Amino acid sequence: MANKNLRPATLLVHQGKDRDPFTGASAIPIYTASTYHHPEGKPGEYDYARSGNPSRAQVEEAIALLEGGVQGFAYASGMAAIAGALTLLRSGDHLIAPDDLYGGTYRYLNLVLPQQGIEVSQVDVSEPAAIEAAIRPNTRGIFLETPSNPLFKITDIRAVVHLARERNLLTFLDNTFMTPLLQRALDLGVDVAIHSATKFLGGHSDLLAGLVTVADENLAKRLKRFQNATGGVLGPFDSFLLARGIKTLKLRLEAGQANARQLAERLKTHPAISRVYYPGLADFPGRELHLSQATGAGAVLSFELQEKQAIAPLLERVRLPIIAPSLGGVETILTHCWSMSHAAIPAEVKVRLGIRETLVRISAGIEDVEDLWEDLERGLG
Ligand SMILES: Cc1ncc(COP(=O)(O)O)c(C=O)c1O
Repeated sequence: MANKNLRPATLLVHQGKDRDPFTGASAIPIYTASTYHHPEGKPGEYDYARSGNPSRAQVEEAIALLEGGVQGFAYASGMAAIAGALTLLRSGDHLIAPDDLYGGTYRYLNLVLPQQGIEVSQVDVSEPAAIEAAIRPNTRGIFLETPSNPLFKITDIRAVVHLARERNLLTFLDNTFMTPLLQRALDLGVDVAIHSATKFLGGHSDLLAGLVTVADENLAKRLKRFQNATGGVLGPFDSFLLARGIKTLKLRLEAGQANARQLAERLKTHPAISRVYYPGLADFPGRELHLSQATGAGAVLSFELQEKQAIAPLLERVRLPIIAPSLGGVETILTHCWSMSHAAIPAEVKVRLGIRETLVRISAGIEDVEDLWEDLERGLG
């Protein structure tokens, strides 16, 4: 494994393994084998590809190094990573989660966990009092996503960790929006850091992947056992793409973040827009708290159009962004949260949470910001 003391930009490039130990090749090959020879009937480092694969091991080591964990786990998607992390809960447990979070996670918490006998309360986790009030005798974990998606509510990670530790609860943080470069979940005391690596870590909108890492050996052992038992692991080809994407994360994220900031500032003064959600804006509520736990505002922002009727022309006129439910690519991605990323959330819940039909999310890519702005201005009419 690369030296833990290396700085993040170096770790991104050198990761766990930066060359093939057998040939010296500058990239770890795509090991497609499903099984491994057992000399004289004894297993070597690898015995069967669900349990371990050198291409996957590279990204598993990378996330552990980047977040400061003891071991990493790579899954077939961000949702598989969330499901994998939540195998740390048992039937009869109760989980507290945000009311405002990624639609797919909402679906998982409301569809799958109850079937497994795990109760979920969704509350405004940015209010510590709301968490306190939701705690029950069987509460076992608190799930966080900060900044929240799509409304950028900021949760005080340290305060939640403090509260959780006092009560012996596990904390989970979906750190997808920030990546370990901007927000170091485990350093902040979170027990389980989760990433949809489909987004910034992969960075090119060409793969699905999920990563999890933990600082505690015991949790790592349990996750490893469940990862092998459930089998939703990241395949070798996607592992290769992810390892390759991770190498340029710093450059991509910095460029996307600079563009997001420019766009947020310009959108704020645009007459068609009533509100911009971006923690990088000087007057954004929660900005100070966010910057006390993260080193940047990230490359994603949301904005509210004055008129619902402006949505269709916007989606019709813009040429550069992909109009899609995703984020974190080199290309700008524009999402109509109501009908795309948060489609799984019932309409009345979205209305209650303030996710309106007029809300648009932008994941700023690395294009020239002037081209992006000209395109958006054309879309906004
Ligand atoms: C914050 C967040 N978490 C998790 C996921 C799920 O990731 P995946 O699509 O890789 O399953 C997404 C997907 O959009 C997301 O935005």
